[in-house]
Amino acid sequence: MVKAFGGAGRAHRRFRTAADTFVGTFHRWERGISRIAAGMQLVLSPPFVLLVVLIGGAALITNGALAPADLLPFLLLGLGLTAPVAALGHGFDDLQSARRAIGRIRDVLAVPSLPEPANPVAPQGHRVELRQVRFGYEAGHEVLRGIDLVLEPGTVTAIVGPSGSGKSTPAQLLPRFFGPTHGSVTLGGADLREIGSRELYQRISFVFQDVRLLRASVADNIALAVPRADRGDVVRAARPANIHDRVLELPRGYESVIGEDAGLSGGEEQRISLARVLPADAPVLVLDEATAFADPQTEQAVRRALATLEGDRTILVIAHRLETVADADTVVMLDNGSITERGRPAELLAQDGAFAGFWRTHQTAGIDEAGPDREERS
Ligand SMILES: Nc1ncnc2c1ncn2[C@@H]1O[C@H](COP(=O)(O)OP(=O)(O)OP(=O)(O)O)[C@@H](O)[C@H]1O
Ligand SMILES: [Mg+2]
Repeated sequence: MVKAFGGAGRAHRRFRTAADTFVGTFHRWERGISRIAAGMQLVLSPPFVLLVVLIGGAALITNGALAPADLLPFLLLGLGLTAPVAALGHGFDDLQSARRAIGRIRDVLAVPSLPEPANPVAPQGHRVELRQVRFGYEAGHEVLRGIDLVLEPGTVTAIVGPSGSGKSTPAQLLPRFFGPTHGSVTLGGADLREIGSRELYQRISFVFQDVRLLRASVADNIALAVPRADRGDVVRAARPANIHDRVLELPRGYESVIGEDAGLSGGEEQRISLARVLPADAPVLVLDEATAFADPQTEQAVRRALATLEGDRTILVIAHRLETVADADTVVMLDNGSITERGRPAELLAQDGAFAGFWRTHQTAGIDEAGPDREERS
């Protein structure tokens, strides 16, 4: 990065100085340590111990304080003791690192777990409702400023808006990664806080903007929600997500391990995370499209996956592409944490407001040439 921006010489100098300082410090520390270590090793070495016992013993025998035969047990004992004493030193090192590891594990365990409801409520159906939701990641910076939004079963709702307007934030509230500071989010009439987490995750599937795949086989990644899924189920999910052919090209196909023998591009990883929601078969789907991977393959994958999932599902798409927006039943325009427009894509376009502006900008950017009423026309 530094090279690409022409700052190579300057950054190299700073890097060189930092590296030299580190090397100097490390050498001084190492020299001190290695003297002690070498001394210890010498003192505990069998020849040294043998020499000490022999010289001491010889002196005592000359004085007549020790019978020559009595020296033998000391010789044997002295030689036998060196290894355990040396092991003690190594054991002390291990103990130190074990103590540090325990500290780190304690830190993880100290994180409070998400409170489970004492009397869990079962959601009735899968209508999602955000009522007067206010939320900010940091105090003093509100990201959602009173959102009212209903996601009806059997419909696709698309959120659009400028970058940073808060589009992805509802996708963080639905899995309860965060809770609203004001207002409520309900699923099937039950507040998310009153639904058991198992129940919640069985009902909602997510494709997040930043894809996280596990260091496991491609098949295991796709079958994350349904560990008992067989190869047929995995392939049935991979096909509409446009990733099946690519997976077959990997060295071990579906058994290739992500990050080991499966080196995938961002768009391909996005498609795997898309395939992951299909076997889960949850009635609610939240799909946060990644702006960075607006390639035709991923675009088609999103459309095919959505078509596979249609029916009575509640679908929320945080959309960056006109293709997805055009197919939605409802579009919600978000600006600076507030909803500024909502309605059917064609209606909003006719209103010639902010959404129409968004539409034109994307069209002139050449991302999509199609209009919102393309389906009706055909
Ligand atoms: N984990 C976080 N911690 C702190 N602030 C955050 C976090 N995630 C998002 N934000 C902030 O919240 C605001 C809204 O972010 P959000 O991700 O919802 O925007 P977005 O509309 O999805 O943007 P994009 O189109 O770029 O994905 C931004 O100002 C962002 O900096
Ligand atoms: Mg986002």
